[in-house]
Amino acid sequence: MSSILVAKRRDDYRPSDFFIDTVDISFILSPENTEVCNIMEVTRNISGCDILKLDGEQLNFVSLMINGRLAKENIDYTLHENGLDINLDVDHATLEIKNTISPINNTSLEGLYYVSGAYCTQCEAEGFRKITYFLDRPDVLSKYRVTIICDRPELTYLLSNGNKLEDTLLEDGRRKVVWEDPHRKPAYLFALVAGHFDRLEDSFTTSEGREVLLEVFVDSGRLHQAGHAMSSLKKAMKWDEDTFGLAYDLDRYMIVAVDFFNMGAMENKGLNVFNSKFVLAEPKSATDEDYFNIESIIAHEYFHNWTGNRVTCRDWFQLSLKEGLTVFRDQRFSEDMSSALGCRIKQVKVMREHQFAEDAGPMSHPIRPDEVLEMNNFYTVTVYDKGAEVIRMLHTLLTPAGFRRGMDLYFARHDGQAVTCDDFVQAMEDANDANLSQFKLWYSQSGTPEVKLALEQNQLRLTQTNKPTPDQAVKQALYIPIKLSMLDEKGLEHTVDEEHLGTFVLSQEAATISLPERLQHGVPVILTDFSAPVKIDYQYTLDEILHVLRFAQSHYAKWDASQMLYSRLIRLAYDSNEDNDNDNNSDNNNDNNKYNAGQIQSLTNLIEYLEQATLPDDVVAQILCIPSFETLAIEYTQLNPSRLQSAHQELTLLLARTAKDCCERRLKEQRVLPYRYEQSEVNRRTLFAVCIRLHVLALSQEGKGNDLLSAYAQADNMTDKLALLKAAQQADINAFDALMIDFEEEFGHDAVVMDKWFALHATAPRDDILSRLDLLQAHSQYSVKNPNKVRALIGSFAFYNTQGFHAADGSGYKYVVDFLMKLDAINPQVASRIITPLLQMNRYESTYKSLIESQLSRLFTQKNLSKDLFEKLSKTLA
Ligand code: ARG
Ligand code: ZN
Repeated sequence: MSSILVAKRRDDYRPSDFFIDTVDISFILSPENTEVCNIMEVTRNISGCDILKLDGEQLNFVSLMINGRLAKENIDYTLHENGLDINLDVDHATLEIKNTISPINNTSLEGLYYVSGAYCTQCEAEGFRKITYFLDRPDVLSKYRVTIICDRPELTYLLSNGNKLEDTLLEDGRRKVVWEDPHRKPAYLFALVAGHFDRLEDSFTTSEGREVLLEVFVDSGRLHQAGHAMSSLKKAMKWDEDTFGLAYDLDRYMIVAVDFFNMGAMENKGLNVFNSKFVLAEPKSATDEDYFNIESIIAHEYFHNWTGNRVTCRDWFQLSLKEGLTVFRDQRFSEDMSSALGCRIKQVKVMREHQFAEDAGPMSHPIRPDEVLEMNNFYTVTVYDKGAEVIRMLHTLLTPAGFRRGMDLYFARHDGQAVTCDDFVQAMEDANDANLSQFKLWYSQSGTPEVKLALEQNQLRLTQTNKPTPDQAVKQALYIPIKLSMLDEKGLEHTVDEEHLGTFVLSQEAATISLPERLQHGVPVILTDFSAPVKIDYQYTLDEILHVLRFAQSHYAKWDASQMLYSRLIRLAYDSNEDNDNDNNSDNNNDNNKYNAGQIQSLTNLIEYLEQATLPDDVVAQILCIPSFETLAIEYTQLNPSRLQSAHQELTLLLARTAKDCCERRLKEQRVLPYRYEQSEVNRRTLFAVCIRLHVLALSQEGKGNDLLSAYAQADNMTDKLALLKAAQQADINAFDALMIDFEEEFGHDAVVMDKWFALHATAPRDDILSRLDLLQAHSQYSVKNPNKVRALIGSFAFYNTQGFHAADGSGYKYVVDFLMKLDAINPQVASRIITPLLQMNRYESTYKSLIESQLSRLFTQKNLSKDLFEKLSKTLA
């Protein structure tokens, strides 16, 4: 096996032999052949080292000068597939390296690439080595000066990090722009963008009195869609000053929106590059969810300027140092800007739907991984979202004020450095005089802890179980903050932890809490606000769940109770379908048979409660949402996906019937106003979306239709239109087809909007879905080279079209694997995302498992398989 397929280990970290103090890099841009000249001042860091090993991939080497002298191959240097080794037995040297690259042929969208008339870079994690030879590691910090020369006057903007020093027209007609970034930075934060854009300008004066020029660059003709991004940026700048005392540190902040991008966005110093779907918005084309995501991602990248850029990571194993922390910061920001409860529910759904699955699969890893083959595979829900949950627990345990003290100390100690997660926790400990040694296991231990709760006569017993994961056989007890209370029989809520703060810390394998007599027949309310990223096991009766729903003070706890009720009912239907599968005489279609009177009554009681309580619109909407298939799937072993899908559908139909009057009334009560993105209106529209979907389902069960077409025509915004489309997709396929044609006519020209159209098609439950996918791939707006299109179409199918993807003949699996064989050669990072649902193979019943296994084995033997897929497949098939 080639050495490149050997994983790196966190324990093997060694400081760099050399440093690169300054980089003076010039580009003569051309799509086929861009010339790069890179002049570096290097310094020896470890005495005795006499070979400077520079990383380099897919570069055409031209020449090397060492201190002004032309170097000779095999005497002064050797070239190999992954870089350049330079014999250098001196403490200081000036190197000048020339190489060329071909941006137009770079379909991986990593390094410098050229697509639809613009140049763009993406360097995190290890893309800079595809631009020039370099010490491409985050603990090598350098000062950059960048020169861009271009002979195409139509490219109005030639951008890089920092401040613009020069912008001149050369005698030969070419344009030359020079940038300098005064802050030392790792290579992954380098950026270059050259293209023709429209530009939105604004300004912000920082708390330190700095006047900052703010610029948002978008495709021409889209300036009117850039305003929300700009106002989000200003809100984020203000919030970080107010909340953490952190102000911006350059005179210019640029955001560029591009259509071809592997991920959401990138925090390059002073020059953020964004996927256009996280910048562009107007009511007609963007949903409330888009508005929310734009605000939070703009904030996320902005917050990186301190957590990531000013203090960066020592090595890539420390990724959560910047990502977990920055996600936590953007979450807090969103909670302040919108609805805190709505935000928390969204965050918890991500954990339960995606992170728990990742942690239960072959790619299970701690938030600080120990072993990595392809770093791009570790930009995961574990590193990001579980990482943010770990930071949130620190925030809970240390209190907001204590957390702030820790942050202040962290910046005081480490500004300008490349550090580790341990350094971060140390600052939190020192600033608070706390001992976090057991807490730190959250950084090193993978897997989702399970906390079992038992109500024994006069006490509550809590037990934690940490099952082995493929990457780690032995586990230790974690330090778990559990928000906990008890409801007495009358519904009064009581704290029960010793300190009566409402949070009990479970730090051993088992613990007990004694209960006063009046609570000995009470009902626990547990893990309120998802105070730790764990699963809870408590055997509530259906009546007890309803007791929590009715009487818990916290809206979060009410929502969580509704989710438990639905999960429980779906489990009952699933189990009864299992009996039916073994008994051919039974009637599988009559879902009422799945439930006894008491079970049906529990749903009626839930709706009755919603009708008489006065809960905010968004809480009602959330309570009327059944957990997704993916969220439920994690609770099953030997899962039969089509049986779970039917059970899910059965409960959905029953809920639609039970909630029919409730939904009808709430739909009638809606007072529709012209679209505005503000919280009360967002809540109202969220409730509309949930109710219309259930209502259309209820009517279709009665053989009645609903006038979705005229409602669609009247909607003045994308949020309502999409709600109507989704309702039609699930219940009224004729209306769906008609609306989709209408949608395409109206939005066919808008790439960002058309992603919604592709995704709706891909998730439609229909028997001919695979031939549909073929047709859609031939659509003029589709391109296999565009990650947004691939994710919208094939990604949505694999992640969310349960029926089609898990077709019993294996055709869905085969379709996705055929596609991955093609995509891997074009863009391995995107291929490695799309494969995710197939990695759950080992959790399925044997027939499904072997269908997936044979497809993955076929993929594994493919020639020139990327490192990205190799790493995931070898773990899955192990
Ligand atoms: N640092 C970026 C962000 O979270 C994401 C970079 C993702 N890089 C990757 N290779 N997947 O804001
Ligand atoms: Zn980030």
